[in-house]
Amino acid sequence: MSIGIFDSGIGGLTVFKEIAKAFPKADIYYLGDTARVPYGNKSKETIIRYSIECADFLVKNFDVDILVVACNTASSHALDILKKYLQIPVIGVVIPGAEMAVKTTKNKKVGVIGTIATIRSNAYKEAIERLDKDIELYQKACPLFVPLVEEGMIDNQIAKLVIKEYLQEIIDKGIDTLILGCTHYPLLKDTIKNIYPDISIVDSSQNIVSHIKNLKINTEENSIKHIYITDESPAFEKLKNLLVPEGKTEKIELSQICNL
Ligand code: DGL
Repeated sequence: MSIGIFDSGIGGLTVFKEIAKAFPKADIYYLGDTARVPYGNKSKETIIRYSIECADFLVKNFDVDILVVACNTASSHALDILKKYLQIPVIGVVIPGAEMAVKTTKNKKVGVIGTIATIRSNAYKEAIERLDKDIELYQKACPLFVPLVEEGMIDNQIAKLVIKEYLQEIIDKGIDTLILGCTHYPLLKDTIKNIYPDISIVDSSQNIVSHIKNLKINTEENSIKHIYITDESPAFEKLKNLLVPEGKTEKIELSQICNL
């Protein structure tokens, strides 16, 4: 059986890496919509439309058996619609991340950071409330983090300043756990950890594998690892070589996934 993964760009490679590590024999097809990234400052309607187009590309071309939405923005706004639209299991990143945070926090004060669209959706707030009503959640949109990661600025002075500018406010609320509610952010994890060593940092890629395992499907296949992008991206290729060197990248035209 094969697994389809999509993200607006490079962030979902952090999820791809964990899935490929857990299921090395699985066929995995990844779509990074690098022509239209970022999704995080787009409207709900646009995020839903883009998400359906990405899902269609993976399902129609590769007949994938599971779809992983490796983008918090798309998971926050389009997951329910994709679940109704597709006939296959669809796994998003919000619930696995929220579950990890609930398991991790000791003082029941949790922070979540993400794109403007993810934070505006309140998807993490709703997921955490369903799991544990006593948890206080502090949310913060960090729109500069995605371009920093795309530029490879993950541990320089600029990155450190921006991290402090965004995070100090929620750290001051006394949180002991921070959810990285954007698949780009794990690349800033070490830098955040160095600045705030007492905070437990969680991201959904750590838990998504167990959600796939719960489906109890046979993932033994031909070990194909194919990656498609909708526009050339040197940053994508660099990160891909670091995280999933076994993947072969191919550029497709945007017109192959949508009507232009
Ligand atoms: N990787 C996306 C997410 O997890 C963020 C990038 C974007 O804004 O498209 O939300």
